[in-house]
Amino acid sequence: MTSLTYNDDILYFNSKNILQIAKSYQTPFYLYSENIIIDNLNEYQTSLQDIDSLICYSVKANSSMYILSLLSKQGCGFDIVSGGELLKVIKAGGDPTKIVFSGVGKTEEEIVMALDQNIYCFNVESMSELYRLNNIACDKKKEAKIAIRVNPEINIDSHPYITTGMKDNKFGVSQTEAMAMYKNALSLSNIKIIGIDFHIGSQIEDANPYKESILKVLEITELLKKENISINHIDIGGGLGIKYEKENISSISNFIENIVNLLSKTDLKLIVEPGRSIVGNSAILVTRVEYLKKTNTKNFIIVDAGMNDFIRPPLYGAFHSILEVVNKKIPAETYDVVGPICESTDFFGKERNFKVEEGDFLIIDNVGAYGSVLSSNYNLRRKPLELMIINDEVQVIRSRETYDQLLSNEKTNV
Ligand SMILES: Cc1ncc(COP(=O)(O)O)c(C=O)c1O
Repeated sequence: MTSLTYNDDILYFNSKNILQIAKSYQTPFYLYSENIIIDNLNEYQTSLQDIDSLICYSVKANSSMYILSLLSKQGCGFDIVSGGELLKVIKAGGDPTKIVFSGVGKTEEEIVMALDQNIYCFNVESMSELYRLNNIACDKKKEAKIAIRVNPEINIDSHPYITTGMKDNKFGVSQTEAMAMYKNALSLSNIKIIGIDFHIGSQIEDANPYKESILKVLEITELLKKENISINHIDIGGGLGIKYEKENISSISNFIENIVNLLSKTDLKLIVEPGRSIVGNSAILVTRVEYLKKTNTKNFIIVDAGMNDFIRPPLYGAFHSILEVVNKKIPAETYDVVGPICESTDFFGKERNFKVEEGDFLIIDNVGAYGSVLSSNYNLRRKPLELMIINDEVQVIRSRETYDQLLSNEKTNV
């Protein structure tokens, strides 16, 4: 849970009165807490302080310029998956030599951009990508440092859309293919092998599937040694979950302790790529009740946020708790909380009890990861305002998109 408490029947987020904020800024808006992000990163940093390691925050979870800048000032590296993410990290002050580049579809343009920035490592996901990378690096007279992304093929208990380390999805390569790629890489003039990488999925509850994966990957590194191929680092990806509902999620420190113990007999540097566990619990989405609509079969709360602002419930069937900003002394009724978008999937929660009237405010909890990054202009709605509590003050970290910006890239005539 984010830091939410009722005080005199008003909901507070990180000691800030949400009702006051909702009356000062137009809803819908994301409201973040800087402290929560820093605390989460600190927990990783403290747990890793005694070992050779690099934390590469996974930009896809939340690419807010302010958050990237905040994390880079705390010494964090970055895991990127596109040229856009690369440019944004650089603009936010990120250190290119702490960047790892993941993703199955790196274009020539993106590879050139990353080589120009001398990034730390390319996480290579296919033989074709390996050859493409070498060719471009040759042309540019650069050395591309690589890790191969291997699928440990561990079964994890997560939503099928967010498991990524299995043989039938598009990510990474099999253990046999990885061996073949490493052997080929040895003969490629502008490739330098530095690591091995995996990422098994997201919203994972504890270190157990990582332990299984690491044991499999260490078998590969042993085989590689026999081929005189040495590996300097192991990148275990991201994936540690957060508590949305009743999940029993391991703490960051406990999670890292387990991994570090397992690697203690090796001399491998450890890279982690956390996303959700750094930003997930750092934000709420504040929205206004526009209409209460009651039918013979169902009651709806129609709010001013839509699936264009926050799509996790329809996209992943994700549960997010929703709370009233004012705890009113009126009878509770059961509602579906829905948005204004013309899709039946435009919902935030179903069959929940609320004590609300039109004009009241609700918050959707734990929206810091895979929230604003997945927002869109569907139904020609503007992307939402983003606020952050910084040193106990509410600050705008991203203005609401304007109607001019919304319409600016298109032509009426050609
Ligand atoms: C390669 C890679 N690394 C890191 C992450 C971050 O995962 P999470 O936000 O679950 O920590 C992802 C997300 O899917 C990913 O694909």
